[in-house]
Amino acid sequence: MKTQVESLWVFALVSQDSFSAWPWLVLLMGLAWLSLALLYWAHPGGPAWGRFHWRSGPAARRSIPGPRGLPIVGSMGLMASLAHRRLAAAADSCAAKRLMAFSLGETRAVVTCHPDVAKEILTSSVFADRPVKESAYKLMFNRAIGFAKYGVYWTTLRRIAANHLFCPKQIKASENQRQQIADQMVRTFWRNRGNISTRVREVLKRASLNNLMWSVFGRVYGLEESNNEVEEVRKLVEEGYELLGLVNWSDHLRWVADFDAQRIGLRCSNLAPKVNRFVGGILAEHRQKTAGERGRDFVDEMIFRGTDTIAVLIEWILAKMVLRQDVQSTVHDELDRVVGRSRSVSESDMSELVYLSAVVKEVLRLHPPGPLLSWARLAITDTTIDGYHVPKGTTAMVNMWAISRDPEFWVDPLEFMPQRFLTHGSNEPEFSVFGSDLRLAPFGSGRRTCPGKTLGLTTVCFWVASLLHEFEWLPDGQNGVDLSEVLRLSCEMANPLTVMVHPRRSIINP
Ligand code: HEM
Repeated sequence: MKTQVESLWVFALVSQDSFSAWPWLVLLMGLAWLSLALLYWAHPGGPAWGRFHWRSGPAARRSIPGPRGLPIVGSMGLMASLAHRRLAAAADSCAAKRLMAFSLGETRAVVTCHPDVAKEILTSSVFADRPVKESAYKLMFNRAIGFAKYGVYWTTLRRIAANHLFCPKQIKASENQRQQIADQMVRTFWRNRGNISTRVREVLKRASLNNLMWSVFGRVYGLEESNNEVEEVRKLVEEGYELLGLVNWSDHLRWVADFDAQRIGLRCSNLAPKVNRFVGGILAEHRQKTAGERGRDFVDEMIFRGTDTIAVLIEWILAKMVLRQDVQSTVHDELDRVVGRSRSVSESDMSELVYLSAVVKEVLRLHPPGPLLSWARLAITDTTIDGYHVPKGTTAMVNMWAISRDPEFWVDPLEFMPQRFLTHGSNEPEFSVFGSDLRLAPFGSGRRTCPGKTLGLTTVCFWVASLLHEFEWLPDGQNGVDLSEVLRLSCEMANPLTVMVHPRRSIINP
């Protein structure tokens, strides 16, 4: 009876003149929308997963465990800052280390903190695409290697890059360039020797940028040179990093996209023509148009990708050396034995500097520049991961930071122990960080693994060897070394490292 009265009442409302019915209709629709939002939200993994499961029917009902987050926005908060730490903590609390589902607004996401599942994701052909952020589109990076869709175009770009930058012959050919830049860095620090407190970040970023500009455009800048072109490229790269590293709400909530509340879209729209003009100008000047538009599509990305990872990693390594003087003096002993104090390091020494190589790996383990492997992967088709159904369009992440600190896979994982990577002349093969063992794969793995990994690691190891060979690296006495992190495009030291350097040998022609 009550129901009849209610329906009569609703009927009466609707049949009244349209003015008085509208508010009730809006209210009813609002309530329906709210109920649906709560229904979706109640699902493990939150609203985006709930929406999928309610729409796709019983076939896909075995749910991946994961946090619900908040209605509608899901777990956007997990990506707010130091996402690798927040995601690891969430996976722990949901007992979902192998595979955790979560929602970033309307985006379905999964993340793994386990090497076996990481291998399954990274090496699967299903995850050969990347989700393209608005910032990447606006900066036209969807046409660059890092974001291009898997297919003929992407393969062609990777082949061009391999032939012009990353193959062993090219890496060998740029040895002299790395040597010259290392000498410039040594001279810069030498001028600040003694008890002067020096920030290393600016020197490392400039060195790294100059190295890339030299390799990609043939442009040679001095480390301390300041002219309009150097300043312009530095500003463009800084702005680009920041924009690509930001979590953009518009990528995950269609209804806020038009508002561009974080002004990321606007800033990208302003930056893109500047980058284009800059790159176009240099290419035109050098008559490199033969590389055509395809060449142009990947060169600017190389500058963005290659510069910060190298500088960020070297800063972490130097910070560890300052903190762990015992490890630093073992590296010094090795350098004295292999190189000797009468000359500087050369790249031909590197194969003998096994302890130094172990130090670099240990820093990559504890402080990977891309703790979530920088850019996620996107499922091209429906697939199964770790026994769970993962639908097409799902974003997949690997929490390399969590894996490489997990006591299940590493002895005393939080201890800085480079010796764990020494094979002591046994038959044990050297641990490769290039993606074959997913307990430590800071360059990713599979089809979309980092194409710059050999070049990157060669540069880092050689520059670190040169800087440690020439100087003792000491705390600056006032600031100390703060290992707090900040996650932008890469995970950097939140408080830039300041040091004092004492020369270990006299430098000719400082
Ligand atoms: C220490 C140095 C570096 C680290 C730790 C690093 C790390 C990474 C990681 C984790 C990825 C994602 C891989 C995946 O999804 O499996 C990546 C991709 C990429 N990296 Fe690196 N990288 C470094 C240096 C470089 C350098 C020097 C360059 C170029 C000059 C470069 C260019 C790229 C490009 C173009 C991609 C996208 C590849 C694709 O999507 O096909 N990287 N890097």
